[in-house]
Amino acid sequence: EFGSMRTADEHPVEIRESLMARKAREGSEIVNNMARQRALLKAKTDYTVRNPTARPTEAATKEPDEPADDRMGAQMPETTQTRQQIRAAQQALPIFKMRQGILDTVFASPVTVVVGSTGSGKTTQLPQYILEATNMAGKPLYPGSIVCTQPRRVAAVGVAHRVAVERGAVLGGEVGYSIRFEDVTSDQTKLRYVTEGVLIRELMTAPTAAKYSVIIIDEAHERTINTDLLFGLLKQALGRHRGLRVIVMSATLEAEKFRAFFSPTPPLIEIKTKPYPVECLHTIGYQDDYVDSAVNQVLEIHRAQGACPGDVLVFMTGQEDIDATCDILEQRAAELLADGTIAHPLLVLPMYGMLKAEEQMRIFSPPPPGTRKVIVSTNIAETSLTVDGIVHVVDTGLAKLKVFSAPLGMDALKVCPVSQASAMQRTGRAGRTQPGRCYRLYPETAFTGDLLESTVPELHRSNLANICLTLLKMGESPHAWAETGLFLDPPSKEALNCAMRHLWMLEAVTDEGRLTRVGEVMAVFPLDPVLSRMLLAGEHYRCLSEVLTIIAMLSVPSVWYSPAQAAEKAKAERQLFQSSPDSDHLALLRLYSYVFREDSRTSGKPKRKLQFVNMQNMVKAKKIREQIRDMAKKYGLNPATTTLREDNIKKAIARALLINVAECETGNRYSSLLTGAKGVIHSTSALYDQNVASRYIVFNELVQTKQIYLRTVTAVDPNWISDMRPDIFRTGSTGPVTRKSLALAAVPDNLGAPSVGPVMVASRDKGRRA
Ligand code: CDP
Ligand code: MG
Repeated sequence: EFGSMRTADEHPVEIRESLMARKAREGSEIVNNMARQRALLKAKTDYTVRNPTARPTEAATKEPDEPADDRMGAQMPETTQTRQQIRAAQQALPIFKMRQGILDTVFASPVTVVVGSTGSGKTTQLPQYILEATNMAGKPLYPGSIVCTQPRRVAAVGVAHRVAVERGAVLGGEVGYSIRFEDVTSDQTKLRYVTEGVLIRELMTAPTAAKYSVIIIDEAHERTINTDLLFGLLKQALGRHRGLRVIVMSATLEAEKFRAFFSPTPPLIEIKTKPYPVECLHTIGYQDDYVDSAVNQVLEIHRAQGACPGDVLVFMTGQEDIDATCDILEQRAAELLADGTIAHPLLVLPMYGMLKAEEQMRIFSPPPPGTRKVIVSTNIAETSLTVDGIVHVVDTGLAKLKVFSAPLGMDALKVCPVSQASAMQRTGRAGRTQPGRCYRLYPETAFTGDLLESTVPELHRSNLANICLTLLKMGESPHAWAETGLFLDPPSKEALNCAMRHLWMLEAVTDEGRLTRVGEVMAVFPLDPVLSRMLLAGEHYRCLSEVLTIIAMLSVPSVWYSPAQAAEKAKAERQLFQSSPDSDHLALLRLYSYVFREDSRTSGKPKRKLQFVNMQNMVKAKKIREQIRDMAKKYGLNPATTTLREDNIKKAIARALLINVAECETGNRYSSLLTGAKGVIHSTSALYDQNVASRYIVFNELVQTKQIYLRTVTAVDPNWISDMRPDIFRTGSTGPVTRKSLALAAVPDNLGAPSVGPVMVASRDKGRRA
């Protein structure tokens, strides 16, 4: 039920009391029973704990829903707009009137901060203005020298496509994009939309940024790890490359922080827009089940609105919840339509990064006449994506965020309340084209009481191993970097130490915290440190070809598909590739070899299909494999050497996953040697319910639902482990029947942290305490 209102003068969105809310308070119809408990955060589904290094860099450091591949690219439907319509639309954007002012400022100042609400034209227009201005000036540009970064792959591809259409150009001509494992640019390309990770990689090899003319950091308010890293890198680059122009674009008013970071303080350009008023309603109590609440709310909106047009945008957590919401919504809508409660059909569309390109594009098309469109999305629709026609926003107040879990020693994907800033962004999505309404599925007291003012930067809730490796590779000391003001918000010493220990476990840094030869090579690959370590170990144990496949398979979303209705069949199919006691990593390898027979090498098409395997992800894995293989070859690794001994492959896996060695407690229950975290082997694993449990395993990730699960595990021999790193692990004999046991020898505390002598601090309390 909806209750209390607030008038929030400080926010751009008008919030006022509504008739509907009053009715709700009086206990009339609208939606849902009262919440039974204070549980804004009842994570109905998952709480995924993921090895920070189990996925390639970009996927791991990005939004949980970040796609692991390209999507929109070539398959996107051509626009139906004519050139005139496009031009009219461009000129109607709030940014258009400010064109000249923006250009004057940008070229006069090394750094410019641009703030403007979502949809004002920053991402699509501003880079074009720069492009046109440099074209006019006739200045020779290096190819791709105007760069605009995006935190999300989907956005980079989508926007590049849109801009190409607006310019009547082919994608990859004047305008292109580069995302990890996919580069759609050419010698002609002047403007590139890239993911932040791609630009960081480029800067790694060319830290002076000499070949760039203008670098635009878009969506800076998102504060991904990579955004923060870029800020530091560009601050440095500005000192080395005089002609460089940096533009920071943000949708929210965190601009002051960005300005304060640079010196001299950059000019601020504000693109003023007048949003339509949005009436904002809160529920009276907390909701027990946010999927259910959202479904009910959408149906109620649809019923009450009748034939009145206006689409609905629902902010849901992650893919699973979104799929569930869509399913239930469609089913319930069909029932209500059948019994005449509602008169018009609903068009329900999911939106998350993992979605196929065609499906993503569907959200932009207008619904058929008489139909209401409902988009159920992750926080991707908060700022980086604008859909016209949204009049109603239903906000669960939740998002899936990456959070570093100290007890588990890993990053976890967790359903969290969003920040007030996010909630306001979401609300604003209802008022873009006409006055709208936002239904918050949480009480007003939660907005002020539970929600943080702004989202904690990703840097402060993640494992920093990857950015430490990047910095070390660039010859920077992470600790020094933190101390010299190159982080917008410096991470804690402990967080840096933790990351350095992680790298030390991977043999990427020495005891003194310096990059090793192994670390040097690891940093070259656009993979997460664990995976690049696995790659090197693959060469070491002469099974690089197999390990390449495993890395590729770990780089795509799960290939196994297990629908609830056919769980047994799916399991039987999966078991074709599993043997016990064994390895889930090897099962991935066997699956890959089975699907792609030799002669498929040319066609790239899977030779065999399986019912419960996601073939799309398999094809993606194949593409990724080829790319990593080429990179590996380029760096002198030899992928051809192959060993037939499975143990070697397991050793390569173990070497990279030493950080995740776990010992069997009972049955399926294991505990991590390093962190003590306890978990149960996932029922989809080859090692689940073995007759003879493997005493030691390594695991790729932890997934938390009702309990903690170990996912993608491989049985290991304790002797391998102690042989690999006698400095960390030692074996001994235990038990009546002598068995090898594995124990921790030593893990250093402060790697590469500046050694601080005794510091004399005069205590302020001295006098009082005595
Ligand atoms: O970056 P900002 O949020 O300020 O705006 P934008 O992404 O440049 O969007 C400006 C306009 O372009 C909006 O009206 C969008 O609806 C439209 N647009 C589009 O039609 N198709 C896209 N793929 C991206 C933007
Ligand atoms: Mg934008």
